[in-house]
Amino acid sequence: MKKKILVAGGTGYIGSHTTVELQNAGYEVVIIDDLSNSNIEVLDGIEKITGVRPIFIQLDLKDKEGTRKALAANPGIEGVILFAASKAVGESVKQPLKYYRNNITTLINILELMPEFNMKGIVFSSSCTVYGQPDPQNLPVTEEAPIKPALSPYGNTKQINEEIIHDTIHANAPFKSIILRYFNPIGAHPSAEIGELPNGVPQNLIPYLTQTAIGIRKELSVFGDDYNTPDGSCIRDYINVVDLAKAHVIAMDRMLNTNNEKIEIFNLGTGKGVSVLELIHTFEEATGVKVPYRIVGRREGDIEKVWANPAKANKVLGWTAQESLADTLKSAWNWQVKLREGGIQ
Ligand code: WQD
Repeated sequence: MKKKILVAGGTGYIGSHTTVELQNAGYEVVIIDDLSNSNIEVLDGIEKITGVRPIFIQLDLKDKEGTRKALAANPGIEGVILFAASKAVGESVKQPLKYYRNNITTLINILELMPEFNMKGIVFSSSCTVYGQPDPQNLPVTEEAPIKPALSPYGNTKQINEEIIHDTIHANAPFKSIILRYFNPIGAHPSAEIGELPNGVPQNLIPYLTQTAIGIRKELSVFGDDYNTPDGSCIRDYINVVDLAKAHVIAMDRMLNTNNEKIEIFNLGTGKGVSVLELIHTFEEATGVKVPYRIVGRREGDIEKVWANPAKANKVLGWTAQESLADTLKSAWNWQVKLREGGIQ
């Protein structure tokens, strides 16, 4: 009998790639998503890759009664992966209450409903944003690095949600949790059937870069080259989205099948810091496609440099990021080309 998993936000970028890897690992997947920042065609892409169309319910998880009905109609769900959240840093500064209501209410509803349906665990999608700008002695970042005051409401919702999970588990909730702190997820599935498809003008680097490379955008603005880094541009830890998805499957397996701690936290990164300018040059070398760019002023809220120490995930989960930056950037480019062939962008 296949174990059944709820992927909340499963038509989104990381949720769809994780659904594929869960199905590949033999899980049955139920997706709940409100499609506020994703497209239902993603289900076609998942089915093309795995041959299995996940069960899909279009629903806003802030609707607790609606969620309860959806769970009652899909009995036997053993675990949850919570991706569903608003995630644009800049937008969160302009619309904080939307972010607090959406990201926190969604989590609370799921945590309250899990015992009613005898769910054993929740994997929570968190972010390296919780670390803010780590002090020099704390780079690369381990899970023990201090949590800094959030620089945006988006980052604050991640910190608050982690604390809500901690407190709920501490109050003897009848389930476990694994919190995964992502660094910068990028790239697309090698089949180019699914990938990152932001609505409107992309806020984050890779979709904007590939849209510039293909001619949708005139040029890429590089937000600052006057930082205290080797080439002056910001440094991040860019992790392949399929590698990231695979870590979720390992975490779910661990939670459902082992006697691990009731709550665990893991940094998911490559352990390598890459600057914006290095990334642009790697893309150009890997694809042979030029990216017109201009150095402009810094973006408010950006931190200077952060990259992971992934030793705990490597050792405890037995997980290590596999894909090279060049291959990952090629996958992002192949996805962008596929979108144009499909007339989507
Ligand atoms: C990366 C670098 C920019 C766009 C955020 C969230 C994080 C996660 C990923 C959800 C920075 C520079 C960007 C552009 C640029 N969110 N940049 N020109 O801000 O590191 O992380 O998104 O999972 O939680 O905090 O990602 O891709 O926006 O920026 O120069 O047009 O690229 O300054 O240095 P970020 P990003």
